[in-house]
Amino acid sequence: MTEILTVDSSRAADVLAVIHEAFANRPPLDPPATALDETLESISEALDAHGGLLVEHEGRPVGALLLEPRGRLLGLRRVGVLDSVRGLGVAAQMATRAETIATARKFGGLEIEARVELPRTVEFWRRLGYVESGRNGNRLNMLKMLPITRVLRTAEDTRAFGEWLATLLRHGDLVILTGDLGAGKTTLTQGIGQGLGVRGNVTSPTFVISRVHPSLDDGPPLIHVDAYRLGGAAELDDLDLDTDVIDAVTVVEWGEGLAEALAIDRLELSLTRSDDDVRTLELRPVGPRWRELLI
Ligand SMILES: Nc1ncnc2c1ncn2[C@@H]1O[C@H](COP(=O)(O)OP(=O)(O)OP(=O)(O)O)[C@@H](O)[C@H]1O
Ligand SMILES: [Mg+2]
Repeated sequence: MTEILTVDSSRAADVLAVIHEAFANRPPLDPPATALDETLESISEALDAHGGLLVEHEGRPVGALLLEPRGRLLGLRRVGVLDSVRGLGVAAQMATRAETIATARKFGGLEIEARVELPRTVEFWRRLGYVESGRNGNRLNMLKMLPITRVLRTAEDTRAFGEWLATLLRHGDLVILTGDLGAGKTTLTQGIGQGLGVRGNVTSPTFVISRVHPSLDDGPPLIHVDAYRLGGAAELDDLDLDTDVIDAVTVVEWGEGLAEALAIDRLELSLTRSDDDVRTLELRPVGPRWRELLI
């Protein structure tokens, strides 16, 4: 049985032992990981300040990490898992728990540092939704923002949210909208168009797959794409969007699984319809561009 515990300095010796063993088993790095310099004192201090996670498998400590608040982000440090439990998903379980903690403590996202010399570690975090946000030599910063949720009671609320969102948008930005038929994707895009101050009514493009709405002043145009009838990412490429997206704000309905390749930085929005026409919106910012949403 595997158990994840939130721990303070009373478990410092176990956390230290896991970190030392896990990091000693890594290939040599340049510069070397400083985890091996951690002492009972330094770990106790860190755990008393911000806490950490300890994973026990059949009663034995096998995984650990330290939590470290950095402004609106929760940093995860010294993420260590013993070789003897590789493949049991211990690291993924710790990452999930850390996300739960970050959400409960109202952080805007999570941040880790990975070494480029360890591509499997980098890939592990990427699969969990972390993207590169900075680099310092061989040290890669990776960031995952937490979703923002809003309840939108009326179509007007949805439009107003779009208008607010438009105040954050600038040329080159990509917004991907997901939701069932009639969920409110076009309604939201109308609000974005209104907020951006673009020409023409934003409607469901029935016969065309994309439509460009030029700005009425010197702001970015809106490219509104309805990918519902698109066969796949290749067809999206055929639209030749890449030429314009740099200068425009691009909003893609039904873009999930298709449009992500257009940009690392993007806003993923999903709309879910419940009873009484109420919509629940989940906004997931992806990429370093959206760090500013944290401030
Ligand atoms: N809270 C709400 N938010 C958004 N739309 C709402 C809401 N309540 C009612 N509506 C209505 O639901 C409809 C949503 O249609 P809309 O075209 O925006 O959906 P869509 O997700 O773009 O659909 P499609 O998948 O066909 O493109 C509109 O007629 C709108 O007035
Ligand atoms: Mg639509």
